[in-house]
Amino acid sequence: MGAPGRGRHNAGVKITALSDPHPGPSSYRLAWVGAAEDGHPVATAYLRVFTAEGAEHRTEVEVSVHPAEQRRGAGTALLAEATAAARGLGRRTMVAGPVDAGSPGEAFLSARGLRPVLALTYARLALEDAEVAAALAEPHPGYRLLSWEGTVPDELAATFARSRRAMDDMPMDEADVGAETWDVERVRSIAAAVARRGDILCTVAAVDDADGTIVGFSELVVPGAGTGDAQHYGTGVLPGHRGHGLARWMKAAAIRHTRVNHPQVTGLRTDTADSNVAMRRINDALGYRPTHRSILFQLDLGRA
Ligand SMILES: CC(C)(COP(=O)(O)OP(=O)(O)OC[C@H]1O[C@@H](n2cnc3c(N)ncnc32)[C@H](O)[C@@H]1OP(=O)(O)O)[C@@H](O)C(=O)NCCC(=O)NCCS
Repeated sequence: MGAPGRGRHNAGVKITALSDPHPGPSSYRLAWVGAAEDGHPVATAYLRVFTAEGAEHRTEVEVSVHPAEQRRGAGTALLAEATAAARGLGRRTMVAGPVDAGSPGEAFLSARGLRPVLALTYARLALEDAEVAAALAEPHPGYRLLSWEGTVPDELAATFARSRRAMDDMPMDEADVGAETWDVERVRSIAAAVARRGDILCTVAAVDDADGTIVGFSELVVPGAGTGDAQHYGTGVLPGHRGHGLARWMKAAAIRHTRVNHPQVTGLRTDTADSNVAMRRINDALGYRPTHRSILFQLDLGRA
């Protein structure tokens, strides 16, 4: 990789390496701009380098070439630059995507030797059609629900951070993600990062009445303007509390929370691994309808 700010030529594209001045709570980014011989920019690449404990082997690449400049090797040149940087950092894997099935991105990543590791179905719930009364009315003896917006309340922070391991065994097929470590500081800094972007993080949690601990959660992010579609983040239930309908209950509560508190939001979007049968069933039952399929690709860098 060239030093930041220094340009060099590769397959007719002049590449300038940059670095993102704003590192996030669990990653930072390197960036490259590709320019044509006459100097106008034609492509960008970002390499996200994960820094959270348990994710230090991972990177994620995003290459984008101006539509009028595609099929001239710019994507290949920038991908090579990002791959070299990931290797240089001693990282074990580089993932790309997810890209839509049948898109130029899928053809490109296959052609460049990355392999498909995870198939995802994207789905959307039109809030005007959502029916959650029945799901909310079902009894769940021994449990109650809580919800909050923004950062977790202090008195729940420790138990909420511990509940994050509910995501550890989420089906990821062949994607090399590893199990991440969560603590209160990380939970708070992620909420702060969403707030800095101007968006609203909404969380519903399931609490075990016996000891007051959080045993499951469902997160979604509402755009700051309060309009358009909100995006689901994770939904997870700790292994000892699965099979009691808590995920569906929390998701139904998240739907109601959005309707009541953000009435101008029109839809909720979610993406689920095709192999995650439990979550797909919940989404189907709550009225989410598939919009498209995507594929995550991975390059094994063979180190670390
Ligand atoms: C995917 C993308 C980055 C490719 O950039 P590019 O500069 O056009 O790619 P290259 O010219 O280096 O293509 C290399 C090879 O990939 C394959 N490929 C790329 N685009 C393709 C397409 N539209 N259809 C079929 N194969 C394609 C080909 O095998 C190509 O070699 P060839 O032209 O000799 O046949 C570009 O289409 C893009 O910006 N798409 C939107 C963003 C995206 O999907 N990024 C990928 C996720 S990281």
